[in-house]
Amino acid sequence: MTRLSDSLTKSLDKTKIPVHVAVIMDGNGRWASKRLLPRSMGHRAGMNALKEVVNISGHIGVQHLTVFAFSTENWKRPTEEVSYLMSLLAEFMQKEIDELHDRDIRINILGDYKSLPLDCVNIIEKSLAKTADNKAMNLNIALNYGARLEILKTIQTIAGKVLNGELSIDEIDEECVSKLLFTKDLPDPDLIIRTAGEMRLSNFLLWQIAYSEIWVSESLWPDFKKEDFLQAIFDYQKRIRKFGDVNEKK
Ligand code: FPP
Repeated sequence: MTRLSDSLTKSLDKTKIPVHVAVIMDGNGRWASKRLLPRSMGHRAGMNALKEVVNISGHIGVQHLTVFAFSTENWKRPTEEVSYLMSLLAEFMQKEIDELHDRDIRINILGDYKSLPLDCVNIIEKSLAKTADNKAMNLNIALNYGARLEILKTIQTIAGKVLNGELSIDEIDEECVSKLLFTKDLPDPDLIIRTAGEMRLSNFLLWQIAYSEIWVSESLWPDFKKEDFLQAIFDYQKRIRKFGDVNEKK
């Protein structure tokens, strides 16, 4: 811990740590361009930033950390970049899994990961099995994830259940929808962090973030450090969350 991160950690209200933090890790490409490096090096530096954020999240007691690693729209990128991201993911899972497991972190994937390359699917499934009983924190990696796709699949499932008589139209409520999303076992994010100064949601968790607090950092993702994360939590703790009511909801 640096002196700054130590004092930021101490200044946090331990009773108001967000249960679920979601992160849009943006700016890897710009980080690389600024250094005249290939974009792949930005993604590699981004992987290191992710390790730091996982560690600090576990340290302060966040229960669910969800990160947007690859969207359904990211397939539009050049083939070499897509392949590099896939190999980086496999590398992350292979190299970090023992440490994540030792820290009692459970890996969970949000999205259609089964259509990724077979070696990635195999490594992902090993990591899921190995960490399945861990309890300290869930690291939810959104992979081949798109919120519209997730909502669409949910609508299809609900329509199927109505057609075969398993569900009546009156029984379709918010809970019924939430339980069919990729995030079915997770609480909605309390805080969503986006880096690189962009004010967009980019098809991320659109149903789940209805009442999430948004915090945008000007830092490019590879430059995002534990101090930035702690600052986000500190600022979050000052927000008044009313969920549409007139008074703060604790
Ligand atoms: C957005 O930056 C980032 C991504 C599409 C990929 C996120 C991936 C990582 C952080 C790598 C490590 C992840 C894992 C799970 C191992 P961008 O490329 O869109 O940046 P730009 O907008 O500056 O071009």
